[in-house]
Amino acid sequence: MTENWIAPSILSADFARLGEEVDNVLAAGADVVHFDVMDNHFVPNLTIGPLVCDALRKHGVTAPIDVHLMIEPVDRIIPDFAQAGANFITFHPEGSVHIDRTLQLIHDEGCKAGLVFNPGTPLHHLDHVMDKLDMILLMSVNPGFGGQSFLPSALDKLRQVRKKIDDSGFDIRLEIDGGVKIDNIREIKAAGADTFVAGSAIFGKPNYRDTIDQMRSELAQAE
Ligand code: DX5
Ligand code: ZN
Repeated sequence: MTENWIAPSILSADFARLGEEVDNVLAAGADVVHFDVMDNHFVPNLTIGPLVCDALRKHGVTAPIDVHLMIEPVDRIIPDFAQAGANFITFHPEGSVHIDRTLQLIHDEGCKAGLVFNPGTPLHHLDHVMDKLDMILLMSVNPGFGGQSFLPSALDKLRQVRKKIDDSGFDIRLEIDGGVKIDNIREIKAAGADTFVAGSAIFGKPNYRDTIDQMRSELAQAE
């Protein structure tokens, strides 16, 4: 069985104390650092780039860093993120003219690669690239901001992608991003996810360990 990963999104962290925030959330039991990159073009917000990823590595962060690119185009910046210490790099099919080439580029740079689907993006983009994917990320909100509500249509999409992964036989993680909370993580797990991004649910509460522990206990009870 694939291990469940909890991936706090640093979008909701205090950026003025980012190194400390990341240290604290990892000490509280997080598995992966989810790193949201926005360009004020593909999405209506602007965040952080490779310099900040590199700064976290220099600060001493050794956990996997999961870079979610909400940018367009994507290829130019991928080597910079690889150099800055990213482990996973995921991008939206709308952000690349040549999806297969971009997946190959991420692998050539020594990182794991994934495709991200907005709530309204169809799954057919998966059809010819399953063998090149390490991760599939389903958005359960429209990307751009933390703190939005989980869109229930993501549950059915998760079930569809879970089946595609299982039928393919490939080792691909299924990640969900947007509106994940203690009170819905169990049904999200039951629908097929194994990697859970949570921003406001974790950084919005004073005790990160309490939230992560409660999420893990909900996950343990999923069907
Ligand atoms: C949204 C980002 C998410 C966001 C999730 O565009 O991709 O990673 O930070 O935040 P919450 O968990 O608050 O919905
Ligand atoms: Zn994200």
